[in-house]
Amino acid sequence: MENIIEIEDLHFSYKGDSETPDVEVLKGIDLTIKKGEFVAVLGHNGSGKSTLAKHINAILLPTKGKVLVDGIDTADEDKLFQLRQKAGMVFQNPDNQIVSSIVEEDVAFALENLGVPYEEMRRRVDESLKAVNMYDYRLHSPSQLSGGQKQRIAIAGVIAMQPECIILDEPTAMLDPQGRKEVMSTIMRMNREQGITIVLITHYMDEAAKCGRVVVMDKGRVVLDDTPRKVFSHVEQVKEIGLDVPQVTELAWELRRAGYDVPDDIITEEECVEAIKKLF
Ligand SMILES: Nc1ncnc2c1ncn2[C@@H]1O[C@H](COP(=O)(O)OP(=O)(O)OP(=O)(O)O)[C@@H](O)[C@H]1O
Ligand SMILES: [Mg+2]
Repeated sequence: MENIIEIEDLHFSYKGDSETPDVEVLKGIDLTIKKGEFVAVLGHNGSGKSTLAKHINAILLPTKGKVLVDGIDTADEDKLFQLRQKAGMVFQNPDNQIVSSIVEEDVAFALENLGVPYEEMRRRVDESLKAVNMYDYRLHSPSQLSGGQKQRIAIAGVIAMQPECIILDEPTAMLDPQGRKEVMSTIMRMNREQGITIVLITHYMDEAAKCGRVVVMDKGRVVLDDTPRKVFSHVEQVKEIGLDVPQVTELAWELRRAGYDVPDDIITEEECVEAIKKLF
C-alpha cells in the first residue's frame, strides 16, 4: 500500500528567548503511515504528541528532517493549501472548533472559504452530517448540543473537505463516556467505510486497543510501534514510561505474576473472560 505520511528524522525545538534556551521536543522521529491505516499515538504528558500532530498539517515546520503528506513536503509554502485539504485536524475542545450558530453552516464554513460551488457544497455537507449521524440536527444551534455531538460536527467539517487523512488530538478527552463512544465509533466508521487514514492521539488505552497500530512516544522519540496486542504485551515497559495498559491486559498480567497460566497478549474483555474460564 501507498504511504500517506512519511516522517524522516524529524527534530523540532520550540524557540526560547534571551532568558530561556531552545527546547528540543522531537528528537529524531521516523514514522511512515500507509493509506487507510488507523494509528493510535500514545505517550505521557509532554512527550511531544501534539507537537508531532501539528507537523502533519504544517502548523509547525521541522527544525531538522522532513514531513511528507501524500508526497507533499509540509515545508513547501506553495502547496500549503493543498496539504491542508489532504490532512485535516480535530482538536480536544469542540467549543474552540465551532464557528457558526447553525450546525450545517458550521460544516460548510471551510468549503465556502474554498469557493466550492453551492450544489457541491450542499451535497458534501449533507453527506458529512449523515456520516457522523448528525443530519437530523443540521438546523440546530451547536450550543444546544452535547460535547460528543459537537465533536462529531467538528469531524463532519473535516470530512466535508474530503481529506486523505484526519489527525485527532485527544478528541474524546473532554467528553463523557457516551460522547467518547459516539466519537470513537464515528472515527472507526470513517476509516472502515471511506478508507480515510486516521491518526488518533489518545490517553485512553481502550481506544488504542481498537486501532490497527499503536505508536508510543517517550520524551520526543518513538519507543514502541506495533499492533496493540504486541505493544500492550510489553506491560513493564509501558508502565515504566508512565502509561497504563488496557484493564483486561493488566488483570491478565497480575494473574500471570501470581502464577496462573494466562496468555500474555490479552487486549479484549472476551479474551480475558475466556482465559479466566479456562483456569476453572
Ligand atoms: N508553544 C510552546 N512553547 C514552548 N514549549 C512548548 C510549547 N508547546 C509545548 N511545549 C513543550 O513541548 C513539550 C511537548 O509538548 P506537547 O504538547 O507536544 O506534548 P503532548 O505529548 O501533546 O502532551 P499532552 O499529553 O499533555 O497533550 C512539553 O514539554 C511542552 O511543555
Ligand atoms: Mg497534547
